[in-house]
Amino acid sequence: MSETADAPPHAALAQRSVSAILHNQRANGAIVASPDFSQYQFCWLRDGSFSAFALDVASEYDAAARYHQWVHESIQRIRGLIEDAILRRTSGAGSGEVEMPPARFTLDGAVVVDGWPNFQIDGYGTWLWSLGRHLDVAPESKLSPDWLDSIDRVARYLETFAVSPCFDVWEESGTAVHTSTLASVYAGLVSAAALLDDMRFLETAASVKVTLEGSARRLGYFNKSSESDDVDASVLWLDSPFRAVSSSDPWFEKTVSLIEDRLVLDGGLRRYPTDTYFGGGAWPVLTATLGWHYATIGKTTDARRCLDWVAGHFDREGRLGEQFGGEQRDRQHFDEWTDRWGPPAADLTWSHAMYVILENELARSDGTSAASDSRLAESNASAPEARP
Ligand code: BGC
Repeated sequence: MSETADAPPHAALAQRSVSAILHNQRANGAIVASPDFSQYQFCWLRDGSFSAFALDVASEYDAAARYHQWVHESIQRIRGLIEDAILRRTSGAGSGEVEMPPARFTLDGAVVVDGWPNFQIDGYGTWLWSLGRHLDVAPESKLSPDWLDSIDRVARYLETFAVSPCFDVWEESGTAVHTSTLASVYAGLVSAAALLDDMRFLETAASVKVTLEGSARRLGYFNKSSESDDVDASVLWLDSPFRAVSSSDPWFEKTVSLIEDRLVLDGGLRRYPTDTYFGGGAWPVLTATLGWHYATIGKTTDARRCLDWVAGHFDREGRLGEQFGGEQRDRQHFDEWTDRWGPPAADLTWSHAMYVILENELARSDGTSAASDSRLAESNASAPEARP
């Protein structure tokens, strides 16, 4: 992208972030959520699948492929868990949260039952979406026949639990149905329909979309969840990247303006108004997401502002943390979380990933990015839609 003399050198910083993601990837493909934060020594499907998309954006196709192979192998290890969960639900038996497929795996691909709120279906949808994009753009990538089994199991799992209450992308509120989770499920099912050539999953995606639009029909904007009519920044993913709504949808436009009104903190974006995690600071992941939306609708000045904000939060070592400003915003909660787990993650792989994605979006709009990057963005923009 074109830069003024005193603007941050985004292309170079993005390249350094790509190196950080690669550094945080194990040889087996697993991507650690954060190398420094005690609680994040795992690979989350959510963080990892966004990070794999960023690797594809950066033309690091082999690394992205290694991640998808690692997910496939991890899914194969929990085949029984997935089938049991589906069977329990379809036979009407109760399903305890503990026995659900996990949100996060150890870096060796094992499941840890440690009381973490594991039942979060969004990561499975995000994986299928990310895998679909990878196969669309990575040269010489082809759908390994082995992967079909994992794709099918995950798609049937999503189909079964698509509109069930579960924990959200912030690993909270397990009794609600969450709008951004529905969008991940939608995108995952659309992707699975194409990969498996099975239109049944498109039909399910279409019905997920009807549920997703429920709050907007009632309120005129997309709410956080079935239990909260407030906003949540993760709802921005309805447009980029999950394409569950068009960026010019009036309900979505209204949602964006409410998010801008309620969630901006010192130029960055917070998760939701009542967030208290480490004082509820502003997240690079979400600020870059807002920038991604702005870039999509041609508001490049606003998108660059978001990119600059994220770039302004790299530390001297090039690390990019999870969140900023919580200490000043809500000292009491910041201290409570710090006493419990130590300071917030100083280096979050997903933060790097979203910076890379936004930098690439803007470089593409400037016409300075590689042809392969453009193919990825186009592939995401033209992913098939499921219409009711
Ligand atoms: C966030 C999740 C994220 C996890 C690992 C949690 O605090 O709420 O969205 O997947 O950290 O980064």
